[in-house]
Amino acid sequence: METNDFYKRVLRDLRISVTDRCNFRCRYCMPEEIFNKDYPFLSRDHILSVDETVRIARIFTRLGVQKMRITGGEPILRKELPEIIAGISEIKGAEDIALTTNGSLLAKQAVKLREAGLMRVAVSLDALDDETFMRMNGGKARVRQVLEGIDAAAEAGLQVKVNMVVQKGVNEHALLPMVHYFREKGHILRMIEYMDVGNTNGWDWKQVVSKKEILERVGAEFPLAPADPNYPGEVASRFRFLDGKGEIGVISSVSDAFCSTCTRGRLSADGMFYTCLFATKGHDLRTLLRSDASDDEIMGRIMSIWEGRHDQYSLERGTTGGERSEGDKVEMSRIGG
Ligand code: GTP
Ligand code: 5AD
Ligand code: SF4
Ligand code: SF4
Repeated sequence: METNDFYKRVLRDLRISVTDRCNFRCRYCMPEEIFNKDYPFLSRDHILSVDETVRIARIFTRLGVQKMRITGGEPILRKELPEIIAGISEIKGAEDIALTTNGSLLAKQAVKLREAGLMRVAVSLDALDDETFMRMNGGKARVRQVLEGIDAAAEAGLQVKVNMVVQKGVNEHALLPMVHYFREKGHILRMIEYMDVGNTNGWDWKQVVSKKEILERVGAEFPLAPADPNYPGEVASRFRFLDGKGEIGVISSVSDAFCSTCTRGRLSADGMFYTCLFATKGHDLRTLLRSDASDDEIMGRIMSIWEGRHDQYSLERGTTGGERSEGDKVEMSRIGG
């Protein structure tokens, strides 16, 4: 079955957050002053169990979802992550199972996750020098730890991509070293425009390095040519190195929004369904999962939510120049980007 929203966009991908906690404190996502011991993280009983998560994932595949991406917070902090992945990989229709992680715990877990059925990882890394990286992640990990995680993932047979958020005046200088390093390693590096997600990072247009600028800088050193998307609505625009040695991606949600092809739904660890990364409210599926509702009833509910979807936040922000007002949006750490 296929389900369409108001703008005829199908529901094809589900991003499932399995925890709202993280061992990093990236300034642009979970600044330490706010995400400290007084922060109201989700309590255990509010978080979907392994069985609840797998059940809801199965229901989503009946509605046409083919891609599952596990996120957090930091998903590897969730003890039952291998069980969740194993459960999802048994679902008929879940063709692609990926994980978005900060990589710090990957060296230990890569083999286990691969064995559970994980196919791909996207590892976040913003610089190759400890000074910059630690300034950005709140001093929680060194570069080497993440690079070892990346190597372990590749050795375990996982496909690896690397995500770099580019922030003006903060890690711009890391652009070329990062491109060079991951080109040599044979992994796709994707550079992400700094976005106005969540309510705590004090986002400002002036801190964005645009796709255009990123391509000019990288292209001056490593000549590039655009490449076609791998699938309709791919988040990153692809660029091949002209010398044939791989490719990079640029994710331009600020300067060049991709809402018109957005097929992504998001589920938070406590079972709220969000129809946009910038949504102001989620739809409670947990209560339904914990009631005596049948799979068909839950499916019907999800379908009616998706059919009523009008979201195109980045596109609208792009044209008005205005950011949704403070205090409104769901936190990135709740829905994992
Ligand atoms: P592939 O399946 O490999 O194409 O991965 P992906 O790009 O869908 O997933 P990933 O988790 O690696 O996302 C990379 C970045 O793109 C993250 O920073 C996300 O927050 C951002 N991103 C992903 N989906 C969306 C979206 O629908 N809207 C916006 N604005 N940003 C998104
Ligand atoms: N802008 C762009 N990307 C962000 N991420 C987290 N916060 C932001 C932001 N404000 C990225 C992380 C990770 C992915 C899940 O989202 O670095 O790569
Ligand atoms: Fe950083 Fe990702 Fe953790 Fe947010 S969830 S603090 S971006 S590592
Ligand atoms: Fe999709 Fe919302 Fe991102 Fe637009 S801003 S691409 S609608 S998640």
